Amino acid sequence: MPERIIYLDHAATTALDRRVLEAMMPYLTTEYGNASSIYTLGRHAMQAIDHSREQVAELLNCRAAEIAFVGCGSESDNLALKGLAFAAQKKGKHIITTPIEHHAVLHTCHYLERFGFQTTYLPVDEYGRVNPEDVERAITDETILVSVMYANNEVGTIQPIAEIGRICRAHKVAFHVDAVQAGGLLPLDVHALNVDMLSLSAHKFYGPKGVGILYVRQGVRILPQLQGGSQERGRRAGTENVAGIVGAATAFELAQREFPQAVERMQALRDRLIEGVLRIPDARLTGHPTERLANNASFCFRGVEGESILLSLDMHGIAASTGSACTSGVVDPSHVLVAMGISDEWSRGSLRLTLGKDNTEEDVEKVLTVLPEIVEKVRSLAL
Ligand SMILES: Cc1ncc(COP(=O)(O)O)c(C=O)c1O
Repeated sequence: MPERIIYLDHAATTALDRRVLEAMMPYLTTEYGNASSIYTLGRHAMQAIDHSREQVAELLNCRAAEIAFVGCGSESDNLALKGLAFAAQKKGKHIITTPIEHHAVLHTCHYLERFGFQTTYLPVDEYGRVNPEDVERAITDETILVSVMYANNEVGTIQPIAEIGRICRAHKVAFHVDAVQAGGLLPLDVHALNVDMLSLSAHKFYGPKGVGILYVRQGVRILPQLQGGSQERGRRAGTENVAGIVGAATAFELAQREFPQAVERMQALRDRLIEGVLRIPDARLTGHPTERLANNASFCFRGVEGESILLSLDMHGIAASTGSACTSGVVDPSHVLVAMGISDEWSRGSLRLTLGKDNTEEDVEKVLTVLPEIVEKVRSLAL
């Protein structure tokens, strides 16, 4: 096994930034109070949460009261969708989303369908882009919610969020955006984006795992999905994860402040990766050629299994990902690639390389050295 891991799976998770760990440490050690307690130790915890909420609000250009801290990105999506659907069901039971959302949104829609909600899954083009006109056409008198992700986790395609938001607002329909892949990579001003609800997850931008953020615009009513105490202004019961919240806010601040420079660097590495990988025979880029995340280089190789490529890359110390999921021994092609109209023959050989702030040119060159041989070998074995 090579000594240093070349980590190219930042869409899956990221390493905790040292500065974030330092900010969290007091709340994991000496400042252990429960934020609901009225004595000094408790008040310190509450002050740290209040400060974190203000920090996040400032970065999103919203009010602190509009921010709720939750347990992960999936919970943030769940709370937005179920919370709004159950609160607005007297008005209507129609939800609009896309077939390329993360399962945290798709499975929540399936769950809501069991309670009589109907979902329209908008088409996407070959690059995974939604046409805002399709959103407008799908809205009916029954529509209460539109949920479209900012950027896709598999292929990196960025959606025209501000435009979709404008349409939703004109029709008085709530608009939720899963921005989990956008933290530290895209601008996140909720007013410029015309969104009513927005979800983030700290572990995607060098923060701790197990902390999600939900922005809910003032005036948008959601029903809590966890019953218990009145934490998070009654939106989410449970003793606050103070260290996690402080870590999430610190990481978000660092990520959003540093993102213009980080994006410029990653984009150059991404473009080099794309250019090099596309020289491999029967390789194609997946996702939009330009409207894509600065750190995402994703591909399909015809006639190979993505898992075999991953295992071979792992032997070279390279950590990457494939979109397909292995369920009971059968490899299912990714729902994202299927929705984009990519055939089985190609979609089974998907590979996602997602860069981070510490990747170097050497990392990219190493991938470009070993990958062509790996694909050739895996392909010859599959014949
Ligand atoms: C687009 C998107 N939404 C939601 C999630 C879920 O976030 P979490 O892992 O924090 O539950 C992910 C995680 O991969 C994601 O990529």
